[in-house]
Amino acid sequence: MGNPRYNREDGRELVLLQHIFSLPHLETSLRGNPAAVLAEIDRFAREQSHLIHIGPEKGAVVTSLIAERKPQIMVELGGYVGYSTILFGHAVRQAGGQHYFSLEINPVNAAIASLLIDLAGLKDFITLLVAPAHLSLARLMRQGVFDDGIDVLFLDHFKDRYLPDLWLAERLGLLKLGRTVLVADNVSHRGGRQEADEPTKPHYLDWVRGSVEEKEEILGRFACTAPSNAQLAEIVREGGDAAAIAAGWDLALVPGIPKMAYESLDQYYTGREDFNEKDVDIAQLVAQ
Ligand SMILES: C[S@@+](CC[C@H](N)C(=O)[O-])C[C@H]1O[C@@H](n2cnc3c(N)ncnc32)[C@H](O)[C@@H]1O
Repeated sequence: MGNPRYNREDGRELVLLQHIFSLPHLETSLRGNPAAVLAEIDRFAREQSHLIHIGPEKGAVVTSLIAERKPQIMVELGGYVGYSTILFGHAVRQAGGQHYFSLEINPVNAAIASLLIDLAGLKDFITLLVAPAHLSLARLMRQGVFDDGIDVLFLDHFKDRYLPDLWLAERLGLLKLGRTVLVADNVSHRGGRQEADEPTKPHYLDWVRGSVEEKEEILGRFACTAPSNAQLAEIVREGGDAAAIAAGWDLALVPGIPKMAYESLDQYYTGREDFNEKDVDIAQLVAQ
């Protein structure tokens, strides 16, 4: 049994689902048991087909953070098949948190995640939204679920969306001073840069580590400007994504706020050059 390189199109996530739901101990030891469901996903990824989930090593870095910070509201961008959703959602619930939101663009991944979350017994604690993350953030804000902000924002979707979606969260006022922690997977080793990226393209860490002047320069390079007519947060709170678009905002690319500053709390690197991405960056909002 091999462990083939990841291929987005080969349907391995559905094979995972079929595999888990055909296990003889499904009802006796998996149902209602997040750790056992996660162990089966890890086993499948190890023994059958590589998956692009965060995995147990980096996952433990984030669950320690959750146990320490006890977030009320945690949001993940990029739910995939629900591994991090189950691992972190369970940890947030155990730490006395209020709710976990998982935002996933791919409906097949989301359908798989939904069944696995239900299997793990976490359905009532987790909300899964199927849409590009920037639209889901606006929709959830309109529902009022972010009135007290987001305590932990976990970025693990497509790398070129880390920065624009962080900018949207800044602009919507979802990040709270001295409280919100950003956890970004797969960024620190190459500074968030994908091999195919243009060298001039700004990256997540350029922003999170940058000075006000550097960030203004990044926004200029992105030709990213706000319509002069309005306050985005108010519009989204009142009318969601549709109202923002009607007011001339492109939620996929709103300018971030250069004076919002982050302090690096931790950077975890597995040290391996294998196909699994290697690193997690953790930063806290310290000025706005
Ligand atoms: C690396 S996987 C996430 C792994 C997951 N966090 C885990 O550890 O189990 C990336 C996921 O992000 C999703 N994605 C990519 N772009 C997205 C976007 N703009 N909004 C929401 N999800 C997105 C992909 O469909 C994919 O399922």
